[in-house]
Amino acid sequence: MQFSIKTSALEKTRTACAIVAVTGGELSASARALDAASGNALSEALATGDLANKAGATLLIGEAAAAQRVLLVSMGEEREVGEKAFVDALRSAFRFLQTTAAGDAVSCLHEAAVGQRSTAWKMRQQVLVAREIGYRFEQLKTKREPAPRGPKSIVLLADRAESASLATEVARAEAIANGMQLAKDLGNLPPNVCTPSYLAETARKIARDFKLKVDVLDQKQMESLKMGALLAVARGSTQPPKLIVLHYSGAPARQAPVALIGKGITFDSGGISLKPGADMDEMKFDMSGAGSVLGTIRAIAEMKLKINVVGIVPACENMPSGHATRPGDILTTMSGQTVEVLNTDAEGRLILCDALTFAARFKPAVAIDIATLTGACVIALGHANSGLFTRQDALAAELLAAGKEVGDPCWRMPLDDEYQEQLKSPFADMANIGGRAAGAVTAACFLSRYAKDFDWAHLDVAGTAWKSGQNKGSTGRPVPLLSRFLISRAPG
Ligand code: BES
Ligand code: MN
Ligand code: ZN
Repeated sequence: MQFSIKTSALEKTRTACAIVAVTGGELSASARALDAASGNALSEALATGDLANKAGATLLIGEAAAAQRVLLVSMGEEREVGEKAFVDALRSAFRFLQTTAAGDAVSCLHEAAVGQRSTAWKMRQQVLVAREIGYRFEQLKTKREPAPRGPKSIVLLADRAESASLATEVARAEAIANGMQLAKDLGNLPPNVCTPSYLAETARKIARDFKLKVDVLDQKQMESLKMGALLAVARGSTQPPKLIVLHYSGAPARQAPVALIGKGITFDSGGISLKPGADMDEMKFDMSGAGSVLGTIRAIAEMKLKINVVGIVPACENMPSGHATRPGDILTTMSGQTVEVLNTDAEGRLILCDALTFAARFKPAVAIDIATLTGACVIALGHANSGLFTRQDALAAELLAAGKEVGDPCWRMPLDDEYQEQLKSPFADMANIGGRAAGAVTAACFLSRYAKDFDWAHLDVAGTAWKSGQNKGSTGRPVPLLSRFLISRAPG
């Protein structure tokens, strides 16, 4: 599905389907013009009462002026539409369109007043929602559902004065959607396909497609770097570990990069501290942090953002075997600090701590790690917000704002030194777990001990990167948040 901007008047725009908003029973501005040009086709349809006064209700009518059909979309009874109601209405409109034979459409849904939200925001939401509705993961099915119908191209109508900046905005939203699609595909692929080597190949492909530099370090190179923690997690698996380093250089080399570090556990069985069997398949999503790093770099490369970013993905599998790390083992991390492994299922922090130490060599302006790190974060925040941990208030504000702007929110969590006490070990510099209390916080505290040389934030996306249940699947989060963060850091 492709989006574009046009500045023509709706009543003069030829289309298979005009999509218009009805708010508090009233037609939006362009819809009124279309109504006038079509001998009241729209207001007569409204007068029948067939369009329920509830956000997301839809009514399809026949020809009006240059439109072969008109889809009326209710935004609810209030004159001012809430953000959630708007997004819900978009979902239902784009779902409905899939049941029509309209090959193209023109949307004016951004004419609805949604709080203080800009036209750019409302257009971005349309792109992201339409692409979310259109997403399918069927590559491994031999009997596929028939391809959904609905428009292949959607035109968004804009005022001339705003059209250039809105075109940029829409192109960026499409790049974000492409990045999300990559992250979703990687998350949804089974763990026998999406292995550490597969993630490395994917990074190589992005590098080829967008002319980026990529390095993939193998086990030997990790050994010479003394990455004792990352190697300890990989030890139980027959899949070789990979450390992927993908460089996006959109700015002069002297400009310090943003480091994005993604947890790439392609399957988390728990290791010797084996997880219970129920829903263990969902631990294929444990590489979602890695997927979001690759997806975000793909997105900003497509945008040609003027910024430097280095993506670092420690990738391995957490498996039990005769070679696997045991509870009680003490590891020496790349930083030199020692860790007593009390639970081999707390493996994310072990691969990330060495990746954080490694990140220091790029002298990052800021390092952000993204990880499906703790079940405790899901208990704390559920599925709406990712957990955000950082000591830097300005950085927290930037990430909170970025998430809010693209409907991919995070919520700040504490990182007080008091919690560090829980990581004390009688035998090593620290333990890899801190007990049941504040599990998401102690995991972040563990990471903070390896991120002392640069500004750092940690996003725990255990509750947001994927959905479980009947319609289980990867969400592509937090690609929008990260992309938006980088957009606001890049000049121009
Ligand atoms: N990958 C899991 C975290 C996770 C759990 C993500 C559920 C999504 C849903 C992580 O490696 C893990 O196993 N964490 C343990 C930590 C514990 C042993 C301290 C957890 O959360 O139970
Ligand atoms: Mn685990
Ligand atoms: Zn894990």
